[in-house]
Amino acid sequence: MTARVGILISGRGSNMQTLVRAAGDAYRIALVASDNPDAAGLAWAAGQGIPTLAHPGKRAEREAAFDAALRDAGVEVIALAGYMRLLSDDFVAGWRGRIVNIHPSLLPKYKGLDTHARALAAGDAEAGCSVHVVTEELDAGELLGQARVPILPGDTPDSLAERVLAAEHSLYPKVLAEFVQR
Ligand code: GRF
Repeated sequence: MTARVGILISGRGSNMQTLVRAAGDAYRIALVASDNPDAAGLAWAAGQGIPTLAHPGKRAEREAAFDAALRDAGVEVIALAGYMRLLSDDFVAGWRGRIVNIHPSLLPKYKGLDTHARALAAGDAEAGCSVHVVTEELDAGELLGQARVPILPGDTPDSLAERVLAAEHSLYPKVLAEFVQR
């Protein structure tokens, strides 16, 4: 059965684009929503003929609008892809076990922001990304998959982010396809 997936973004949406491009038998993208009406990814998704929604308002109103639109679209699983807002406990509870996120670190290391700078400052030999189930606790739900990349001499947060992002683009569609079918 093909799962209906909704994606939440805040910006460029490169992970969202890879999920859209990889959609097929396992899942289809039924909605792309954003807190940011100017998110570049929203225009791209609309150009692909995918229904989109932007709601820049307060969190309670935004989440109510997202929740209604996701349910109207028959969404079964929500994929966060660079969605830079914290979801409320109520929203997470309403979609318990059905929200996944991609995070640019090898969790449980470096929850939250500035993951690449923190990995470099720690002198780590490798970095990577993780796909996990979203719970009320930030970046702490069940790990569904990880990809590792080396940290190279001379790396900056930007050069490392670029290497990790390429790994994100391979990992997320694969893990999402497995998740919706389990
Ligand atoms: C990615 O690095 C993702 O892991 C993080 O935010 C970034 C979003 O990039 N949560 P994009 O919008 O998918 O290009």
